[in-house]
Amino acid sequence: MRFFVDSADIREIRVALDMGCVDGVTTNPSLLAKVGRPLKETILEIAALVEGPISAECISTQAEGMVEEGLALAALHPHVVVKLPMGVEGLKATRALAAKGIKTNVTLVFSPVQALLCAKAGARFVSPFVGRLDDIGQEGMEMVRQTVAIFENYGFATEVLVASVRNPIHVLHAALAGAHVATVPLAVFKQLAEHPLTDIGIERFLVDWAKVPKP
Ligand code: G3P
Repeated sequence: MRFFVDSADIREIRVALDMGCVDGVTTNPSLLAKVGRPLKETILEIAALVEGPISAECISTQAEGMVEEGLALAALHPHVVVKLPMGVEGLKATRALAAKGIKTNVTLVFSPVQALLCAKAGARFVSPFVGRLDDIGQEGMEMVRQTVAIFENYGFATEVLVASVRNPIHVLHAALAGAHVATVPLAVFKQLAEHPLTDIGIERFLVDWAKVPKP
């Protein structure tokens, strides 16, 4: 299973990289707004750090504009994956960009059949948003399980990139479902690494080490 960092914050990305579990990065307009930095400059800075796919999102609402934006984003760096919104226009752009050999990540996916259409259109990644479904009382992870099953049934090469990950349980269930990738905020990476019994164990070892005779 691969982990991407869901962030446009270079400092956060560096911390996650130093933890040794980063295979790529996903950004979106909200994450860029949070750091208050321009898209292209940020993507280039991330690309200089990370050896893996970096999702950069288009903001056009029509396929033609998405393709134009996507071509410009893809030209920035070979690691750029063009992020497109789900929908008829997004699918048209996915197909057009795939025909030119450009990798895409279809975002804002909320059902397994939406994911199926993304795979048919030639998306490299599909991003089911689990946390946002949980927010409205639907089980986000069920969409992931069903999407993985559908892709396996038909041998689609499209990868399931679990997004809107809010907690370690999401990561656990994404891994159990066989999702190819989870994009994880730094705070959740830290939660994944920690356990109160680990902290207690370290403290106990240090106390005992103080009692060990030193030559
Ligand atoms: O990768 C998508 C993610 O950034 C959205 O997360 O928490 O805003 O639903 P969230």
